[in-house]
Amino acid sequence: MKMPKANQWHMLVEALFIAVLISTSLIKGAAGKPPHIVFIVADDYGWFDIGYHNSTIKTPILDQLASQGVKLENYYVQPICSPSRSQLMTGRYQIHTGLQHFVIIAPQPNCLPLNETTLPQKLKETGYATHLVGKWHLGFYKNECMPLQRGFDSSFGYLSGCQDYWTHFRSGPFPWFEAGDHWLGIDYWDNNRVAWEYTGNYSQFVFTERAQRVIQQHNPNQPLFLYLPLQSVHGPLQVPDKYKKPYAHFNNANRETYAGMVATMDEAVGKIVDSLKEAGLWEDTVLVFTTDNGGDPGAAGINWPLRGTKNSLWEGGVHGTGFITGPMIPAGMQGTVNKDLMHISDWFPTLIEGVAGGSTAGLALDSYNLWDSITKGGPSPRKELLHNIDPLIRADHAMGYGIDEETSLIYPLSGVYPKMAANFSTTMRAAIRMGDWKLLTGLPGRNGWFPPPEWNMKAYTPVDPPHKLTWLFNIAADPNEKNDLSDQHPEVVAALVDRLEAYYQTSVPVRFPDQTVKANPASHHGVWGPWE
Ligand SMILES: *[C@@H]1O[C@H](CO)[C@@H](O)[C@H](O)[C@H]1NC(C)=O
Ligand SMILES: *[C@@H]1O[C@H](CO)[C@@H](O)[C@H](O)[C@H]1NC(C)=O
Ligand SMILES: *[C@@H]1O[C@H](CO)[C@@H](O)[C@H](O)[C@H]1NC(C)=O
Repeated sequence: MKMPKANQWHMLVEALFIAVLISTSLIKGAAGKPPHIVFIVADDYGWFDIGYHNSTIKTPILDQLASQGVKLENYYVQPICSPSRSQLMTGRYQIHTGLQHFVIIAPQPNCLPLNETTLPQKLKETGYATHLVGKWHLGFYKNECMPLQRGFDSSFGYLSGCQDYWTHFRSGPFPWFEAGDHWLGIDYWDNNRVAWEYTGNYSQFVFTERAQRVIQQHNPNQPLFLYLPLQSVHGPLQVPDKYKKPYAHFNNANRETYAGMVATMDEAVGKIVDSLKEAGLWEDTVLVFTTDNGGDPGAAGINWPLRGTKNSLWEGGVHGTGFITGPMIPAGMQGTVNKDLMHISDWFPTLIEGVAGGSTAGLALDSYNLWDSITKGGPSPRKELLHNIDPLIRADHAMGYGIDEETSLIYPLSGVYPKMAANFSTTMRAAIRMGDWKLLTGLPGRNGWFPPPEWNMKAYTPVDPPHKLTWLFNIAADPNEKNDLSDQHPEVVAALVDRLEAYYQTSVPVRFPDQTVKANPASHHGVWGPWE
């Protein structure tokens, strides 16, 4: 072969260089586009109530999806709605966002702090279209707090919690029995418009149809983030009759209805996956399913055999059902169970860095990118988990808060808004996990083991000595918290209290403002919506 002259060499190299550039950008444009993300959140879904944990309630579609993906069996959420959602949206603990206490109550002028960067905002940076269908519950008192201002291209659903599945009306303030006035109003929004036209349509069906429409109208060349925080299976217990018929043998009206609500959710997830397949998106989709917190036995959600309930720091409140699935999960990992410690806040870096290929640089996260540990089985970087520190719930009642023992709901006594104590104290409601150890302090919340009503077994509530402030468990050996080891291992208790103290020093003041009459729908044409 004749050697080319120098300038010909130059041209050849240049041409090769350009060819490589073009081919890599082509690869990026096709296979290199980040996957679609469909993120489904069930509301108040009990640990026991999914078919693969116990077959009493049937969830064939969820079971099948989970068995094709990775079941997360050492996975944790927060014990109530707004806190779990705040951590999912920011990757940050509540002690760093001021949302340590309870949920955002509809008439409170409060929302996820506006200086926090949200998951959809970050996903937009890497090219995603972002859509919310379902429940927001991160505050709405002014426009800046609304989902459309927090990173979503479109938003459909409700802003607060606990509404009627058919009328989409909710009451307030909280607790309603003290208010003497129900402040009834609609909370249903289609972007910036109040969506009156769905009165009489069961919310699960409305949300499914809307999610299907988002999928059908989506341009497949753009990555999709579809966030689907469902109303199911939160109270009030309401479902079309045909769904509860298969559970008539339960002989318990509430539980039959709840099981029917689970059935509508299972069906909805199936319809959404079918739509993804029809739209040609499924092969490119990562689907996450998670509960927001444990079940509430008062509303027929069961966490058996775990201890405690929703709104408690016992395992029944925080050990959540969750899995990740879809054809993007490597074949060798499909059908596996992941036993690494994982937390709902970890989705933030896992989705942004692991799935979308973005960056979380500059954000002060309390969470970890677990994509490799989930999809390759590598070791998890998460060794410790702060479940929460709520300085407003105090075993000594020093802060003027009342406790309804029956429901374990903690509510402010009228007009008393405490300052935060300077130092951590074990009278505060707190819990932390380090490796297999878990420490709980103060008043952890509703206690006991609640079997499914269809078994006709008695619930059992352990009686602790009065003034007991610390409980220590080895969760790997004792996942149901039956064996308190705090007396046997005072050195572990001390080490974990030290960690709580260190976290407490980094915490920001709790924001739990007074509920305001300005929120009353009576002053806003019967609508719950921004009032400032
Ligand atoms: C459901 O729970 C019962 C009682 O604990 C147990 O005997 C049964 O094996 C469980 N079923 C499944 C599918 O886990
Ligand atoms: C937002 O502002 C609050 C109050 O100044 C601060 O404590 C918090 O750390 C800020 N959050 C971020 C993400 O910067
Ligand atoms: C609402 O209900 C009506 C009457 O059953 C039905 O025709 C309509 O398709 C429903 N719309 C949605 C969005 O569910």
